[in-house]
Amino acid sequence: MNLKNFVSSIGYDSILAGYDILGSIAHTKMLAKCNIISHDDSKKIVKGLGSILKDFKHGKIKFTGEDIHTAIEKELKKRIGKIAGKMHTARSRNDQVVLIERLYLKDEINTIIKKIDNVNTIIKKFASKNMSVIMPGFTHLQNAQPVLLSHWFLAYAWMFKRDKERLVNCYKSTDVMPLGTAAFAGTEFPIDRKYVAKHLGFSSISENSVDTVSDRDFIIEFLFTAALLSLHLSRFAEEIIIWSSQQFGFIQLSEKFTTGSSIMPQKKNPDFAELIKGKTGRLYGNLLSLMTAMKGLPLSYNRDMQEDKEPLFDSVETIKTIVDVSAQMVSTMKVNSEKMLSACKNGFILATDVADYLVSKGIPFRTAHFIVSKAVNHCIRHEKSFEDLSVSDWKKFSDKFDDSVYAALDLKKAIEKRKSYGGTSFNSVKHQLKKL
Ligand code: ARG
Repeated sequence: MNLKNFVSSIGYDSILAGYDILGSIAHTKMLAKCNIISHDDSKKIVKGLGSILKDFKHGKIKFTGEDIHTAIEKELKKRIGKIAGKMHTARSRNDQVVLIERLYLKDEINTIIKKIDNVNTIIKKFASKNMSVIMPGFTHLQNAQPVLLSHWFLAYAWMFKRDKERLVNCYKSTDVMPLGTAAFAGTEFPIDRKYVAKHLGFSSISENSVDTVSDRDFIIEFLFTAALLSLHLSRFAEEIIIWSSQQFGFIQLSEKFTTGSSIMPQKKNPDFAELIKGKTGRLYGNLLSLMTAMKGLPLSYNRDMQEDKEPLFDSVETIKTIVDVSAQMVSTMKVNSEKMLSACKNGFILATDVADYLVSKGIPFRTAHFIVSKAVNHCIRHEKSFEDLSVSDWKKFSDKFDDSVYAALDLKKAIEKRKSYGGTSFNSVKHQLKKL
């Protein structure tokens, strides 16, 4: 084992090079402004850093060293000589690493938020297009009550909206400028931290230098938010898998989102949706990995914290991918509304409506529930549906039944009746769409 490799993070933190350079440029300019280094030196350093940034963006540099901070300083020294070392006045890698992680995460959070907006735009379009399609709503995956497909789908849009709000909060926790706390105790140099914050687009600066270099809460917060978002995407994917099965046939996935089998020629497996679910494990794992690394660390900086990067990068890349795949999968799938409607015929899906009908005739709900469950059992025994029962059949269960009971057995009416705020009636769903 190469011992240097064991402590090195250069294998994965090079992707933060751009942020490290921007941070160093802001810091160097501040040092000159506060007369800690000369304007002449500052100009040379900034110019040198600019040339490294350019080469990095064109993929012309391979950084070497213990980590990205030392690698860039080494490269700068190669280009402008010893004055490169002045750049590290009044700072430490301890505050430098938090700075670049915060800069990186702020950008990535904004990217993920845009992707969530895109998913929700697609779900909203899907809901508008299939606004009045009726499907059986489920509890325990068993037919329960009729519901609008649009209503069912919009439930996910609300989850994703909350995920977005959590990301906005996470952005706020991340948007705090750490540089200038140095190793952990602050510095004797007359630095201007607010200048650096303004230069780098942070809205505030951290208050306690020990906390600043010890804190990885903002990353943990992000990892949790990403894990929860993946949980929502995973439920969404599972729903799509079930619905596209031969047994359900509610939807058809685009060929782009299915794969064949090496032995069964007929197969169109929902592998994309399955992989979205499968990726959830690593997102939970990344959260647990950093929580475990941080647990029990004494203040302030400890090298254990270098283990924050790989989980962070992996969660960022994974969540971006699965949000995108979900969006594309929904935008290309087809709905079989006939199948959904005919599935409503099973499982006495209007039993609650019949019970509510009795309630409207003055019977307490509990009693109504008991009466209708007797009717259900009768139908099961005689292999009948509610529609097969005559008025006199109904009357055997309660004399409150008359021929108005058939109106309670209408799917469309059952939907329209559920006008309570947030319910599945057409107008309530339209209102929801507007609110989203
Ligand atoms: N590569 C280190 C990390 O990712 C940077 C900070 C190193 N600080 C130190 N005192 N060794 O955490």
